[in-house]
Amino acid sequence: MKIETRLAERLKKINPSSTLAITSKAKKLKNAGKDIVNFGAGEPDFDTPDFIKDAAIQAIKSGFTKYTPTTGIAELKSLICQKFKKDNSLEYAPDQIIVSNGAKHSIYNALMVLLDPLDEALIPLPYWVSYPEMVNLCGASVRFIKTSASNNFKISVKDLIKYLTPKTKVLILNSPSNPTGSVYNKEELTEIAKICVDKNIFVISDEIYEKIIYDGLKHESIASLNKDIYNLTITVNGLSKSHSMTGWRIGYLGAPSDIASAISNLQDHSTSNPNSIAQKAAVAALNAPSDFSSQLCREFTKRRDYLAERIKRIKELDFCLPQGAFYMFCNISKTGLDSLTFARRLLDEEYVSLIPGIAFGLDDYVRISFATSITELQKGMDRIENWLKKI
Ligand SMILES: Cc1ncc(COP(=O)(O)O)c(C=O)c1O
Repeated sequence: MKIETRLAERLKKINPSSTLAITSKAKKLKNAGKDIVNFGAGEPDFDTPDFIKDAAIQAIKSGFTKYTPTTGIAELKSLICQKFKKDNSLEYAPDQIIVSNGAKHSIYNALMVLLDPLDEALIPLPYWVSYPEMVNLCGASVRFIKTSASNNFKISVKDLIKYLTPKTKVLILNSPSNPTGSVYNKEELTEIAKICVDKNIFVISDEIYEKIIYDGLKHESIASLNKDIYNLTITVNGLSKSHSMTGWRIGYLGAPSDIASAISNLQDHSTSNPNSIAQKAAVAALNAPSDFSSQLCREFTKRRDYLAERIKRIKELDFCLPQGAFYMFCNISKTGLDSLTFARRLLDEEYVSLIPGIAFGLDDYVRISFATSITELQKGMDRIENWLKKI
């Protein structure tokens, strides 16, 4: 007898991951003993620092293993308030802070409390894979704002105005960006903020790559520009990328009080508190001087520059030098291949795995992650260079 699966309608709108097939095939090949070069990583390749691990071990030993307040322990929230003030000139009180299971969860919570089914969310394209699917899960609609390499994949006010409709409720901004590495400066954010304030549009500002920024650029938080945009912005951050803590699942947001209180309510009835032990680890991370992320940044700068030099020599590939994050977004249109074919063939023929641009909305691009050693970058680039000569 055939068993009918009757999934909720909202799940039918969620697209299967276009990258999953590639990444799981790469894993299979690696397990089968093939020498795979992995350019697909979405996380720093450094271990979590020992002092953070020690704090977690201490938390377990001292029995800090029970429920905590839903939105996070007071000690952690107070450190997050200090961090926002020191790094971002943002004043948030502890009751405006929600600690969640990673920045992904923070973004999802924010969208869930803001979006109704008839609302529209604006997402610059290319985008981080999960944004559109999260909007779909809220039952709302996505309008993509197309950007171009000539403007470093950043939206301008003209673009923003073009895509506004009476239903627009939210704009998702991500700076530094995954997948392009572009960084918005203060002037650009000021222009965007003006429109959002004028049209009463909320901004979800995903600042998870804040600490991975190059060439002396300064990260700017849109909410810090003035009181009006502060009142419309949810500032999202976390420890995944800044402290190599992707597996610990600690992200957080700062928001106007009414939004924070709605998110607290949502989290109360969905996930409760984030892991108590990881919260203690996060306290140790935020209490420490920022040496770790500066070290990360220095190392990523060397790798970015090495990769840029290599790609410059390849006539089939074009790129914009990333100003932040750890990805090189390469234009492959001169190869005549679409991004899935490019990624599939590169994996099958040369054992190099990367993410096809279609996952971020652009089929003539691929994303190369430089969260891997220079030795691996060299090996992978040698293979790509030779392969492109053959095809
Ligand atoms: C742009 C962006 N936002 C958010 C996240 C999620 O971070 P977390 O691991 O803290 O959930 C990622 C992770 O890759 C990301 O690239």
